[in-house]
Amino acid sequence: MLAKDFIVRKSEFDLNKSGKVSAKSPSNIALVKYWGKTDPQIPTNPSISYTLTNSFTETTLSFEPKKADELEIRVFLDEVEKTDFVPKIKKFFQRIEEYAPYLEDYDFTLHTHNSFPHSSGIASSASGMSALSKCLIQMEEELGYKVKNRLQRSSFLSRLGSGSACRSVYPGLVTWGESEFIEGSSDLYAIPLEKDIDIHPVFKAFNDTILLIHEGTKSVSSTVGHQLMNNHPYAQLRFDEAKQNIKKLLEILKSGDLEAFGKLVEHEALSLHAMMMLSDPAFILMKPNTVSALDKLWAFRKETGLPLFFTLDAGANIHLLYPDEGKEKIEAFIQSNLLPLCQNEGIIYDRANFEAL
Ligand code: PMV
Repeated sequence: MLAKDFIVRKSEFDLNKSGKVSAKSPSNIALVKYWGKTDPQIPTNPSISYTLTNSFTETTLSFEPKKADELEIRVFLDEVEKTDFVPKIKKFFQRIEEYAPYLEDYDFTLHTHNSFPHSSGIASSASGMSALSKCLIQMEEELGYKVKNRLQRSSFLSRLGSGSACRSVYPGLVTWGESEFIEGSSDLYAIPLEKDIDIHPVFKAFNDTILLIHEGTKSVSSTVGHQLMNNHPYAQLRFDEAKQNIKKLLEILKSGDLEAFGKLVEHEALSLHAMMMLSDPAFILMKPNTVSALDKLWAFRKETGLPLFFTLDAGANIHLLYPDEGKEKIEAFIQSNLLPLCQNEGIIYDRANFEAL
């Protein structure tokens, strides 16, 4: 599919109708990271992620034919009006105008809720933008348009809201970005991995316990972080390595080699943060407790041999990854040694599996 295949004509929609639609979409955590992009939201390397289960956004979108010239959007987070959310949504709507031309004929009210605290530092853009895109697909159907491939279309639209959001549309292991090693992969939308590869049972469900090390907004946004990959001295090396890591991870996912999984995933997380530290201007999103927790995790793994690994998002929080086997001992360690490093003892027990939300 090419971008032009997602263009629709206004005449295919009944623009007199009003309505209300709702959708729920989870967050996801990348194993091979996307960091760097070109316009319009085209990733500089492919990525693979696990879609989560318990960290999600639920959105209700009401739409009615426009009353005035100016596009009106009102946004409520947990019933509190958020005028500061409006520019981001307007920008998203402008970006997808070509693919959703009916938007300019409507006024919108959004009611949204995150299952995780808004200030927790968990990226809500992946779950938020994918939930909104799913709402738009339903709106299109209510306006009488026959959507051919709902998931693919919502992934395509989500990508234009926030790159990583396009992977949240599918459960389980998901890939986004063209890779010579994955048939059907695309820069324009994500695809589920399990269709093409035989995933080892150990990776069919995986725990992701999130340590909320630092709540609040990040000192540097991911938009700026992506931009800093332009003219970055190590960018090309990073993109090439990530491309090869896709191949390596596919082999690991088939073989079930947990040790190789941990090595690759931790290297990816540290590479992402290394890119930040080597940017101009440099920035560090890890906090002292992030480093303390990683230190303790490595010591625990060395001592027990148990398969507890980590990955990091663009922030200070840590995603602890581990299979079900050995879970009790790992979770006892998390409770006693890592929980004290979290702000307000914040922790989210999440999990990735292959069941749609
Ligand atoms: O989707 P964005 O633009 O917020 O970028 C997210 C980038 C990372 O979360 C750091 C990595 C990834 O692949 O999700």
